[in-house]
Formats: sequence, C-alpha cells, structure tokens
Amino acid sequence: MKIMNAQANYDVLVIGSGAAGLTLALHLAARYRVALLSKQRLRDGSTWFAQGGIAAVLDDTDSVESHIADTLDAGAGLCHPDAVRHTVENGAAAIQWLIDQGVDFTREAGDYHLTKEGGHSHRRIIHSADATGMAVHSTLIEKVRAADNIDCFEHHIALDLIRQPDPQRGRFRCAGAYVYNKNTDEVELFQGRAVVLATGGASKAYLYTSNPDGASGDGIAMAWRAGCRVANMEFNQFHPTCLYHPKAKALLVTEALRGEGAQLKLPDGQRFMHRFDKRRELAPRDIVARAIDHEMKRLGADCLYLDISHKDARFVREHFPTVYQNCLQYGIDITKEPIPVVPAAHYTCGGVMVDEHGRTDLDQLYAIGETTFTGLHGANRLASNSLLECVVYARAAALHIDATLSEVQPPRLAPAWDASRVTDSDEDVVISHNWDELRRFMWDYVGIVRTRKRLVRAQHRVKMLQGEIREFYANYRITSDLIELRNLALVSELIIRSALDRRESRGLHYSLDYPKLRELAMDTILVPENFADQRQFI
Ligand code: FAD
Ligand code: SIN
Repeated sequence: MKIMNAQANYDVLVIGSGAAGLTLALHLAARYRVALLSKQRLRDGSTWFAQGGIAAVLDDTDSVESHIADTLDAGAGLCHPDAVRHTVENGAAAIQWLIDQGVDFTREAGDYHLTKEGGHSHRRIIHSADATGMAVHSTLIEKVRAADNIDCFEHHIALDLIRQPDPQRGRFRCAGAYVYNKNTDEVELFQGRAVVLATGGASKAYLYTSNPDGASGDGIAMAWRAGCRVANMEFNQFHPTCLYHPKAKALLVTEALRGEGAQLKLPDGQRFMHRFDKRRELAPRDIVARAIDHEMKRLGADCLYLDISHKDARFVREHFPTVYQNCLQYGIDITKEPIPVVPAAHYTCGGVMVDEHGRTDLDQLYAIGETTFTGLHGANRLASNSLLECVVYARAAALHIDATLSEVQPPRLAPAWDASRVTDSDEDVVISHNWDELRRFMWDYVGIVRTRKRLVRAQHRVKMLQGEIREFYANYRITSDLIELRNLALVSELIIRSALDRRESRGLHYSLDYPKLRELAMDTILVPENFADQRQFI
C-alpha cells in the first residue's frame, strides 16, 4: 500500500472500490492521476460476494433483442429502453474486457459455461462457479494495486461532497470530498477535477440483507445533499433465497441453483411456484420473493425450502462450491437435504440520476454502479444485470472524463474541515439503538408488501431519528457508525417518500392499498431543495 499526501489534488477522485470504481480507475490509469477511496479494505463491497454471474449475449443462439426483451419484462414497464439497449449492446465487450484483465470464468469442454437465472429466457450468465464476484474483484484489485497512477486509500470514508461555483460555466461544480480517515481519526480533504461516486447500494437500510455492512447508501445521500436528483428509490429488490439459520448473517443462496433445477418447497415438501407464475422458480425476483413472503405468512412459517438434492452430488459441489460450504458450516448438506431460505434486501434499483455517460446533475460529479439510477432496471432488476451495468457505465464515464478533462480547470483549494467537533459522545448506545430501530421499522413497514399506513408510520419514525442524528452530527466527534447512520436515515427517508408517491403496485413495489398497475409508467423523481443551485450561482 502506497502512502500518499492526502490533501493532494488529483485528476480524478473515485469514491468506492467495487466493480464500478475499479473498472473506471483502470480505464483512466494510463493518462490520469487517480485517487481511489474505499471505506474499508478494497475488497469489502457487494462485488466480492456476487455469486451467480454476469448477464451478456455470448453465444450465437442468443440475441441482443432477447436480452433486451427479458430486461424490459422484468422491469415491469419502467426501464428506459435506451439505457437497456446501451447496456446490453455493450455487454459482450464488457465481458471481453474482464477476460482481458484475467478474470477466470468457468469453462466446460473448452467453452465458457453459461448458466440461467430468473427472468432470463436464455442461458446467458457467464460465471466463475458460484463466486463470480470474488473472481472479478480479486483480478481488478490486483490490476489496480499494480497501476502506478492509482493511489489507493483504504479505510477512508467520504462524508460529503464539496461544491464550488465554476466561473468558467456559471454553475456549481463538484470539487472534491471531505473524507474521514479511520486510521488517524481525522477528516481530510480530497480534491479532483472529476469526482466519481461508486459507493454501491443501500440495502443495509433493512434488518435482513444479503449485503455486506458497508451498503449504507453513502453515495446516494452525498449526491442528494449536494443537490442531485434521485429516482425510483422505492424499488429495493429482495432476493428470494437467503440462508435461514439463527447463526447465519443472511448468506445468499444463488439464483443459479434454480437455473440448474433447484425447486422451492413448502415445509411439507410440496412445490408451490406454479400457483404464482408459469415460469415457476425462474420467474423474475419480485414475483418469487412475493410468493415466498405470501406462503410464509399464510402458513406462519419461519422459512421455506430450496431443494437441489435430486441433482447429482458431484455436479452440485462443482457448480456451487460457495453455497455448499456456506451451508455445510451450519450443518446443512445441500446434496442431501433442502436449504431453509427466506427473502432479504438485496439490491437498490433506484439511485442518483445519471445520463449515459454517468454524469449527475452536478458538473464534474459522475456516478456509476449500484449507487445510480441509469434507467436500466426499471421496477425490478433482471438477475445478473448489475455487474454488467457496473462495467459498461464505468467505461462510458471514463470515456467521457477522458474526452473532456483537458478543458476542466482544477478546483480551488477548499476550506479545511471544521475540526471543532472533538467531544466524544458518551451516548454511543443511542447510535447503535437508532441503527437497530431504523433497520427494524424499514423491514416491518417498508418491506416486500406495503400499506400507506405503515409507510406514514415509518416516515414519522425516520423524521424523529433524523432529529437525533443531526444533534449528534453537529456536536460530537465523527465516527464511521454515525456517518453511515446519517446516510441510511436519509436514504430511508427517500425510499419512504418514493413509496408514498407511487400509488400503484409495480415490480418490486407492492401496495395493499393500490394493488393495481397504473396505465402510465412513470419514474419517481425526487428533487432536493438545493437542486436549482446547480444551474446558476449568480
Ligand atoms: P460495491 O461493490 O458495493 O462497492 C462499493 C464500494 O464503495 C466499496 O468499496 C465501499 O467500501 C465503497 N464505499 C461506500 N461508501 C463509501 C464512502 N462513503 N467512502 C468511501 N468508500 C465508500 N450482481 C450481479 O450482476 N450478479 C451476481 O451474481 C450478483 N450476486 C450478488 C450477490 C450478493 C451476495 C450481493 C450482495 C450482490 C450481488 N449482486 C450481483 C449485485 C452486485 O454484486 C452489486 O450490485 C455490485 O457488485 C455493485 O458494485 P458497485 O461497484 O456499485 O458497489
Ligand atoms: C444471485 O446469484 O442469485 C444473485 C444474482 C444477482 O443479484 O444478480
């Protein structure tokens, strides 16, 4: 790990070291000085844990039109067709780029093995057994560490973006970020001519989630505070099958198991998905998660079961070594018995609004990956389209930065962070209590099935919590828990507001008060109060 001058002025500041951030950094490293921030170790994001794979059109029997049609179908009328086409058409090139970096995808008889997941009408998921994220992430991390022009800063948490008037354009621009350095317990200034948010999703807003701890929506919250619009925050995707075990922290059981024939069963061993969709276990995720939720509530069951034990044991162990080992450590042999499963929050379909180059509403601020709303996912993301989106949009943003950066002046030096908040709080218990409370009521009131009454109740609760958090933030020393809680509370507020605005049931948003689909499909766009500032500062 290189030691750097933390106040340095970089060409590009990348906040986040998942598939999106690393891909962008690598595309720019030949020509620009890049600072890459990660709030934990480089490997600690959702990317590392991705199991199933990456969707792309990779064989002659498949077609771009078919992948587009499946994406639009899963998205329940809300995908932006141009974003879908842009992503799918660039899919094969994105996979080739990963292969060129050295990612070792699974082959069978010499050819890449393609698996299937819910909502796909074709086998088109390229994967590395059931640990695709680890294969992609470790390869890209190795490349980034070897790149002379990329300085990596682990355990550095961006707190807030810096806006500056840009006399060249007569508008505000992004000029960097204040960053909490966990190693020194100090807030540092990072500036760059372009700033890229690649901070992942916000599923940690929910009590049960497949996501690692850092998924607290920091990028969405920072962009909102900096005056950027966010869209479709109500569409949080719940993955249908996470391991249910009192000691397991929501371990994912990949959908590729169902792609290879695993069956969902009730506690009495009966299959049930045929009652909900003709595609049964391979229906899109919103339908499967809702069906499981419905059956669990109907039966008062703690979990349902996913069974692949009818398949050849060697096939199962070879294709799903991660799930096999994850379950075995809790005493479940998936080659012999069904896996207890429950749905859990998995993916943030909405986020910071960006165009096809990853540009946000604020000049010189880009956003890529799960933190964004590109229009690709609509009301429900198609399985394995996320890593694809990370790679495709990271390249698009890098190309745009490369084409325009020579005309961009370095930002002015921003003021140092006000370091007067030095008092340690003796009430840390309040922070941890608020974490638990927030995630509990988001799960109970803003979950798979929603009602207006519960949403309003959640809205009151989140407003109260935000009051307490503001007090802590204004008076006490910054901690990583406080930073994340502040962001989670804001993102939860945005999720609830969006859910209240959507008076219909569409895709992942299911409301008992508005069970019907409206004829006109519309995005839920939230506009921050300081949005208009972006346009003009005089
Ligand atoms: P992440 O990989 O989450 O990385 C976010 C980065 O931002 C991290 O480095 C984090 O440290 C950093 N960060 C966050 N906040 C800050 C801050 N304030 N300051 C500094 N750094 C910050 N998708 C697929 O397409 N296929 C799959 O098979 C698949 N399987 C999945 C399995 C699991 C268990 C999970 C959780 C997700 C899965 N997904 C899958 C979704 C996919 O993995 C993610 O959407 C994708 O990896 C997101 O990548 P990202 O680069 O946007 O963010
Ligand atoms: C999985 O492997 O089931 C997750 C795939 C995804 O989230 O796209």
